[in-house]
Amino acid sequence: MAGQIPQRFIDDLLARVDVVEVVGERVQLKKAGRNYSGLCPFHQEKTPSFTVSADKQFYHCFGCGAHGNALRFLMEYDKLRFPEAVDQLASRLGLEVPREGADDPRAQARERKRQEGVNLLELAASFYRERLKMPEGQSARDYLVRRGLAEEVCRDFGIGYAPDDWEALKRHLSARDIAEAVQVEYGLLVQREESGRTYDRFRDRVIFPIRDVRGRTIAFGGRVLGDAKPKYLNSPETPVFHKGRELYGLYEARQANPRLERVVIVEGYMDVVALAQFGIRNAVATLGTSTSEEHLARLFRMVNEVVFCFDGDKAGRQAASRALETVLPQMIDGREARFLFLPEGEDPDTLVRREGREAFEGRITCASPLSEFLFDQAARGRDLSRVEDRERFASQVLKAASRLPQGMLQTVLLGELARRTGVDQSRFEALLARDEGAASSPAEPSAAPSAVPVGQGAVSEVSPAKGASLGLVARVLQLLVHEPVLVERLPAEDDWCPEGEGDANLCRELVRLLRAGRYRSPQVVLAHFQGSAQGERLAQLARREMLIPRGARGQELDGLVEHFRRHQRRPSCQEQIDALLARQRSGERLSPEERQRLMTLLAELGS
Ligand code: UTP
Ligand code: MN
Repeated sequence: MAGQIPQRFIDDLLARVDVVEVVGERVQLKKAGRNYSGLCPFHQEKTPSFTVSADKQFYHCFGCGAHGNALRFLMEYDKLRFPEAVDQLASRLGLEVPREGADDPRAQARERKRQEGVNLLELAASFYRERLKMPEGQSARDYLVRRGLAEEVCRDFGIGYAPDDWEALKRHLSARDIAEAVQVEYGLLVQREESGRTYDRFRDRVIFPIRDVRGRTIAFGGRVLGDAKPKYLNSPETPVFHKGRELYGLYEARQANPRLERVVIVEGYMDVVALAQFGIRNAVATLGTSTSEEHLARLFRMVNEVVFCFDGDKAGRQAASRALETVLPQMIDGREARFLFLPEGEDPDTLVRREGREAFEGRITCASPLSEFLFDQAARGRDLSRVEDRERFASQVLKAASRLPQGMLQTVLLGELARRTGVDQSRFEALLARDEGAASSPAEPSAAPSAVPVGQGAVSEVSPAKGASLGLVARVLQLLVHEPVLVERLPAEDDWCPEGEGDANLCRELVRLLRAGRYRSPQVVLAHFQGSAQGERLAQLARREMLIPRGARGQELDGLVEHFRRHQRRPSCQEQIDALLARQRSGERLSPEERQRLMTLLAELGS
């Protein structure tokens, strides 16, 4: 894209659109005095704390603090980048977005060139699509049917056919006055070095158009119909196509679900399309390269969770290690990466065909969280009862942890490492701080080692610091307010939580809030409840010293939940599976605990 968008255009745009209208198209609003209010789309709530002001032209949520103007809203709600949001607002008003320096002849030339490329590739794409429908496309149509692809999916992905002809596309484009040199530049024609003669790059192949996030065709992949080599041919690097940056299927995934929460990264074109055929419409493929930082940065702007999919063999594990290395620095709080290993000899295409949608979704649901994969990998081939092996195990995990951004994941990972090695977490924190060479920030005193015995799975009998002993629900509250991320360990349904007023009520509310995912530090949680009786109660619990060491808090919570559960009727296996799958389908993310549960339940059902 050429040039900056001038500020005065943005000001003008904001003056002409109505934030109430923009928000109102996506959130149900009710007039309330001078303002409008509704349920906040950025966190889960039952009573509206989200307001939109027509006078001031902004929205504000008193619950989660989300705040901004119409542009900001579009960026957050539709997950757009700034220029994309500007584009969208401008097109509502039928305005062209001007670019600074657009009158600079060089910028103009660049822009013309880009436009030329886009038009050309679009022409080629529709040529291939047309040819698939013609008699000469019969063998390709048969091939697609053999691979189980229905017309609808082929249409969604714009699949086409390049005829068995050296010059079919060249003739088509040249007849439209497109210079051969340009066709070569965009990778549609190949030019022989010696003779300078040109011919169609793609011949007698099924064509997969590669589209950018806005749906513009930027390149092609072509598959042979038989076993000839090379199996796939791809467009070369061109002014609009950079292999290490693009993801096949991303545009289509967002078309299928604009509020995409998670993507699955697979290897091949066919994997993406076959999964879509089975209704799994959130797969993307890298284009014959491994997943790059750029890929991930792009994905994480749109979704919070990526699931990497690998073959179960040695090469697959190596690819997974590379993916882990790449993703670590990008794991800021709120993001999640998981690792799915397929049985040997299978790819997503063959597997979904064999097992069907539900089973494949089950695999996605149960894929290992980053931490689990990391620990498994570090433990591989090591005997952790040996001190030396344990040292290497810890070093490897610590090295990975040092590449994580500071945040909850890093903290929790160190906690888990402490639990697995029996070394106090504060030791690891000290090592990490030393390695970072940033001796400037003294370690927080929060992780002070304590001599309190660790609970053994069941509720440990730790007496609270001072005053009367806490009720059991209050203990849950205390754990959650001290360490909000623990919410991920809780079961999918809140049914374990006792009925009643006071703490029980607060507990349900807190769990819901944390599940919504925006509150990952005690301060923010407290701020949410500030000024209410519940806020008082939480603050009181937060002030109580936590005597349970970090690494044991999860177990403590499990123990409490288990205790409550034992006193209740439990829904049947099938009911629980249905509930979990339903939530998963609706695009919700299950916690690692819930995934594990689903796996166990499915196994129970099968046996
Ligand atoms: P695979 O060889 O795993 O193919 O290549 P596939 O996706 O299973 O394809 P089918 O099922 O046989 O049709 C995975 C990816 O690697 C790149 C392509 O992007 C392909 O989708 N690749 C593979 C190439 O670029 N060229 C090749 O010759 C082979
Ligand atoms: Mn395949």
